[in-house]
Amino acid sequence: MRYLTAGESHGKQLTTIIEGVPSHLPLVADQINESLIRRQGGHGRGRRMQIEKDLVEITSGVRHGYTLGSPISLVVHNDDFKHWRDIMGDAPLAEEAEVRRTISRPRPGHADLNGGLKYGHRDMRNVLERSSARETAARVGAGAVAKVLLRELGIEVAGYVREIAGIVSEVDETLSVQERAAISEASPVRTFDEQAAGKMMEAIDQAKKEGDSIGGVAEVYVEGMPPGLGSYVQYDRKLDGRIAGSVMSINAFKGVEFGLGFEAARRNGSEVHDEILWSEERGYYRRTNRLGGFEGGMTTGMPIVVKGVMKPIPTLYKPLQSVDIETKESFQASIERSDSCAVPAASVVMEHIVAFEIAKAITEEFPSDYFPRLKRAVDDYRKEVRSF
Ligand SMILES: Cc1cc2nc3c(=O)[nH]c(=O)nc-3n(C[C@H](O)[C@H](O)[C@H](O)COP(=O)(O)O)c2cc1C
Repeated sequence: MRYLTAGESHGKQLTTIIEGVPSHLPLVADQINESLIRRQGGHGRGRRMQIEKDLVEITSGVRHGYTLGSPISLVVHNDDFKHWRDIMGDAPLAEEAEVRRTISRPRPGHADLNGGLKYGHRDMRNVLERSSARETAARVGAGAVAKVLLRELGIEVAGYVREIAGIVSEVDETLSVQERAAISEASPVRTFDEQAAGKMMEAIDQAKKEGDSIGGVAEVYVEGMPPGLGSYVQYDRKLDGRIAGSVMSINAFKGVEFGLGFEAARRNGSEVHDEILWSEERGYYRRTNRLGGFEGGMTTGMPIVVKGVMKPIPTLYKPLQSVDIETKESFQASIERSDSCAVPAASVVMEHIVAFEIAKAITEEFPSDYFPRLKRAVDDYRKEVRSF
């Protein structure tokens, strides 16, 4: 499975093309819409999230509620495009036309300056329209399809918030993936610990008041994994590596951890590694899951636990110094409207990004043209390894 996305933030539409999804997988647009709507929520999100509800149109690859095995294309129309037609239209401009809203002032922390230098865009709108996190809606679309496939195979994925601005939300490690999903879904900051949630919301409101922004840590939890997914035989087949790369590709993500992650550096080996047990009922399993579901680039069959660190949103009311590329003069970059925190939304994005990598690995390892055949192969494999 692979996918491409296309579309500018204020362009006509976002497009996702997903290839390699098996045929005969039940799929309806509402399953994707549910994910898109979840991405738009979270305490502290701005006006755009309220005026525009993302809804998907499936324009290929699905017929009568089932996938065809052909490329699936998803389209999310930008309702606001009517207001941007002149600025974002594809037709050449009339000579006398004035290009409005050109941007010659790169914002620190964004792709503006590097992208302008690289692609020769003196109007940096040409960069920011694509580098904007609006694109993550298209990626969530691909992940939503992956989640449908995984669910049919008994694999569930949940994304939620573990930390905002240094306020940590503890998780009861015995919670199932369904409980994690349900509890975080009911929280305005997508987290468990109500006390921490209250403090997080205060921190978000405070940052907004001060014209500042705050970051945090999102976590994704995956249950129902067969062991042995991914491989140790070649570096680019290590599934933890692939997931890490994919998480790092999310806008504003600056680090990834599996299980104990960086904490492993501070502990003895006996307090890091997970002892191996076997029972008739469960087959092989680990006494603990400190390594977050991976050994040797392969799944252990224990839940995958992966964290991603999101930096504070770079667009600030509080001015940061930058340089106007036309005049070369310094100016203080500040804006009138921005979210102060998007970690809750980013946890939804991360959930879908991880789901896609896992679905991709499964379709590589098992016959994946026809979904019932894939399911049989996964079920047989699960049986085989239980009594190995
Ligand atoms: C869900 C989500 C929402 C975001 N919203 C904003 C935003 O409202 N304003 C902003 O300046 N950056 C936002 N960002 C972050 C920027 O897109 C990102 O920092 C920028 O594109 C530069 O990329 P880099 O931080 O990965 O280097 C958001 C990121 C995510 C994942």
